[in-house]
Formats: sequence, C-alpha cells, structure tokens
Amino acid sequence: MSTNMRVWQLTAADGAYRLEQTTRPIPEPAAGRVVVRVRATSLNYRDQINLKKLVGREVAGRIPLSDGAGEVVAVGAGVTRVKVGDRVAGCFFQSWICGRFEMRHHQQDLGGTIDGMLCEYADLSADGVVAIPAHLSYEEAACLPCAGLTAWYALMNRGGLRSADSVLVLGTGGVSIFALQFAVAMGCPVYVISKSDAKLERCRSLGAVHTVNYLTNPDWDREIWKLSGQKGIDQIIEVGGPGTLGKSLGCVAPGGHIALIGVLTGFGPPQSSLFSLVGRNANLSGIYVGSRTDFEAMNHFLEIRQMRPIIDQSFGFDEAPAAYEYLASGDHLGKVVIRV
Ligand SMILES: NC(=O)c1ccc[n+]([C@@H]2O[C@H](COP(=O)([O-])OP(=O)(O)OC[C@H]3O[C@@H](n4cnc5c(N)ncnc54)[C@H](OP(=O)(O)O)[C@@H]3O)[C@@H](O)[C@H]2O)c1
Repeated sequence: MSTNMRVWQLTAADGAYRLEQTTRPIPEPAAGRVVVRVRATSLNYRDQINLKKLVGREVAGRIPLSDGAGEVVAVGAGVTRVKVGDRVAGCFFQSWICGRFEMRHHQQDLGGTIDGMLCEYADLSADGVVAIPAHLSYEEAACLPCAGLTAWYALMNRGGLRSADSVLVLGTGGVSIFALQFAVAMGCPVYVISKSDAKLERCRSLGAVHTVNYLTNPDWDREIWKLSGQKGIDQIIEVGGPGTLGKSLGCVAPGGHIALIGVLTGFGPPQSSLFSLVGRNANLSGIYVGSRTDFEAMNHFLEIRQMRPIIDQSFGFDEAPAAYEYLASGDHLGKVVIRV
C-alpha cells in the first residue's frame, strides 16, 4: 500500500496563487489528533479570496479548502471523543469549541492558516471534528462546515430567529441558500434577491415567497420594503458587504437584525451612511462561521428535519481547478463540491 497521498496545494504565481497537484506522506496521528480519509470537499467564496490573494494572505504551500467530510481512519494517543470508522466533518475553526469567539482561533482555520481538506487524508484535532448526520452523503456533509454553519449561526445564534421573522437573503450562493432552507424550515417568510430570474424561480420552488432581480431592479431595497408591507425585514443575510449594506439598511425592519457576513462587493468602507441603523434601532452583527457547538446544534436540526444541502455541481478530484472556475463564474445556486 502506498504511503503517499494526493493533495492539491496553493503555489505562488503572478502575484497570487495557482493550484498544484502533488503528493505528501499520509499523516500519522499525534496525541490528541485524528486522521480522516476525506471523501468530499466543498468550495466557498473564501477559497477564491485566498487563491486570488484578494486580502494579501500568504498561503503558499497550503492545502486549500475549509470544508470536507470523510471517515476517521486513525486516532492518536488519548483520543476518546471519536473512533476509527466514525463519519465526520472538520470544523472551520479547529479550536473554537463553544462560547464567544477569541482571536487565537484565527491561527486554527482550515485551508487558511493551517492545511485544509483538499487532500486524501487530513490530520485534524480530535476536538475539531463533528459527527455528520446519518442521512447525509459525504458530498452533502462536505457543504456544512463553512456555508451551512455560517447561515445557521447568523440566524439562530446571533439572530435568535423566530418563525414569525421575515428573512432576506442576498444572492443564491452557498450561505444564502442554506439560510433560505433554514428559514423556510422554521416557517419564516423568505425574500431573495438575485441577478437571475431562473435562479429566483428555483428559490420560489424552495419556498421563498418574494423575489427581486437586483440587476433589473437596482433599487431592490425599496421593492423589498414595499413587498414587506412597509414593515421591513427582520433578519438580513448580508453577504454583499460595502456595496450592499446601505440597501440592506434601507429595508431592515425597526429593531431588525443584519448579519454582516460577506464581502462580495469588496473590502472597502460602506458606500453609504450607516445612520439608518440608529434611526431604526436596528442591530448589526459581524459573523465569522460559528463554533463546534453551533455545528452540532445545526446537525441536530438537519437530522430532525431530514434536510439536505443543495449541491449545484460536483467535480472529480483532478478537476479541482475547473470547480474553482465554476464557483468564480457565479452561475451556481447552492454549493459546488469536489469529490476525493
Ligand atoms: N463571515 C463568514 O463567516 C463567511 C462565511 C461564508 C461566506 N462568507 C462570505 O459570504 C459571501 C458569500 O459566500 P458564498 O461562499 O456563499 O459565495 P458564493 O457561493 O460564491 O455565492 C456568490 C453569489 O452571491 C451573489 N452575489 C454576488 N454579488 C452580489 C451582489 N452584489 N448582490 C447580491 N448578491 C450577489 C450571486 O448570486 P446570484 O447569481 O443569485 O445573483 C453569486 O452567485 C462571500 O463574500 C464570502 O466571503 C463569509
């Protein structure tokens, strides 16, 4: 049996990075660690940020991707939390178990500061994995660690979602479609904006009640405000950032909650005043994924509701660069997966 495994790593190229396939020794688990035979991974916009060096992060030589699922094939000394054969997913922040976020967790983010999941065997902390719901395939479970948990943490933990709350999701990417699914499962009226009428139709089939095309309707905040009967939206999944925050503020309900998650319009300062936040007594939360405890709570909800992540397309391991390009095209709805 080979003692090497196939991995993809990020290699410096033209001021950013490119994907390079290579081999490394299959890891042996040290004390307190586990080795997982990775079966599937998924992509997030963050993986584009790292590849294109959009925030200047140094990731040369790093195995990319925070998200993956597989089975435990070896455990190190002292590990009792998991055993060989368990079906698990890695936690985005390997060290964030519960409670409030601490800055030290930034040193423990898979596919960022430490090696990620785009490999055949991943060496993880025994505390940094969670059991995956029995009804999910590895491909489905690989969608959960970043996009799924971010949507869950934003709505349930930080937003305290109630069934009567209206929810607005921006676009139809990984985080937004998970948020739509959670909100629909809770019985909330869901609003979606997208650049594509076909995607909006799909969102209606998933349970969205109001949809607006933000290309043909650039003043989408006014349209959403009208559609809400001028009550505004209770919970907004803000994945756009500086270019959309002003509009989210334009349609948030008094006392409502904006979960500031994403940077799809860049990393600059907000392009409009934040004063509506005050005028509406609204809440703005910075969201960064979630803890293992939130992940476990989400998995419990998924099991009870028998919910499944929505996978747009699945690629083979050797097709990783094509998967990255497909995510960058913005043509997808939901998640893009790479099988291992
Ligand atoms: N803070 C965190 O913990 C965290 C976690 C996960 C993701 N994020 C961030 O959240 C964002 C989304 O991530 P993702 O992985 O879900 O991305 P993704 O799957 O690549 O989704 C991108 C989609 O967003 C929509 N979009 C793009 N520009 C938009 C705009 N100006 N207004 C409204 N919608 C727009 C498009 O959907 P349509 O085609 O439907 O228009 C696009 O297909 C990214 O900025 C990512 O970095 C943050």
